[in-house]
Amino acid sequence: MAEELRKVALEAAARSHSPYSKFPVGAALRTHDGRIYAGCNVENASYPEGWCAETSAIASMVMGGGGRISEIAVLGLKAELCTPCGGCRQRLAEFGSPDTKVYLCNSEGIAETVTLGDLLPKSFGPMSLAGETGDRSQ
Ligand code: THU
Repeated sequence: MAEELRKVALEAAARSHSPYSKFPVGAALRTHDGRIYAGCNVENASYPEGWCAETSAIASMVMGGGGRISEIAVLGLKAELCTPCGGCRQRLAEFGSPDTKVYLCNSEGIAETVTLGDLLPKSFGPMSLAGETGDRSQ
């Protein structure tokens, strides 16, 4: 299952538009009901206007009907380990949960498996706006 996501992320990275950083990234997520969505990083000549692979995959999921993320693979073609940036951790938290699995991949395989709770502890999310304290330990 995880390896399937890694392969989809690898294919997505091959479509990356990253002429400025030359750092292609792909992401592939699976929803709770089993749908898979992929995305790549899309850079821009106006550098700050580019966006990340995880963001593309989330947008694709939303357009595909929305849902909750149960697991996601992130892969940088030129990185041993590509961890989601801070902004993407927050975006993933909107559609995931502390136990959402994040596979940190490279071209060879899955280098490390962590959870969203590991990457974004004590997160601010939709529950925070509703005034709920929830369990903020993760
Ligand atoms: N990048 C991603 O696509 N995902 C991440 O989580 C880390 C960074 C992209 C953004 C930019 O196009 C390139 O990698 C170099 O930072």
